[in-house]
Amino acid sequence: MTVYSSTSPEATRALGRNLSQRLAAGDVVLLQGDLGAGKTEFAKGIAEGFKVTERVTSPTFALLNIYQGILPIYHFDLYRLNRAEELYSTGFDEFLEAPGLTLVEWPDIFSAEMPEQYVRVKITNGVQLTERIIEIEWIGSRFAGRTEGSEMF
Ligand SMILES: Nc1ncnc2c1ncn2[C@@H]1O[C@H](COP(=O)(O)OP(=O)(O)OP(=O)(O)O)[C@@H](O)[C@H]1O
Ligand SMILES: [Mg+2]
Repeated sequence: MTVYSSTSPEATRALGRNLSQRLAAGDVVLLQGDLGAGKTEFAKGIAEGFKVTERVTSPTFALLNIYQGILPIYHFDLYRLNRAEELYSTGFDEFLEAPGLTLVEWPDIFSAEMPEQYVRVKITNGVQLTERIIEIEWIGSRFAGRTEGSEMF
């Protein structure tokens, strides 16, 4: 696991952009953190890295936004969901098999439904108002060889 400190929304987006260079179709990124932590800012950075030009927002009500960049990006927000059936009715399982990148805000209550291999991004508040502590952890052998030097960005 690597721990970063961000002191602005721009810096959080830059981290997302840097991470995007190590991501590929079929990967899943779980974005953890409280309301306003910066999950969507980080997702914006990933989307920028894949040359998405559409506006990236929390799909809190839509549950899913799909952006087309170099890859399709499936951006889920599970905040309003309570039951696994609700998650499945979004087509979540099919998107995991589809040729795009899956980003998930609020994955925690659905840990049993998440894939075994994923990138975990956890954002917590720092001491200053705009400070965020961002942990990035690569879980699973599919990421072998892709994490070297990632502590540098
Ligand atoms: N260092 C920082 N990194 C990210 N966001 C920051 C930072 N400092 C301040 N902010 C502000 O915090 C807010 C983060 O909002 P964002 O929508 O990304 O949160 P979120 O975690 O997706 O919340 P939600 O669970 O409601 O979807 C933005 O208003 C942003 O400007
Ligand atoms: Mg959000």
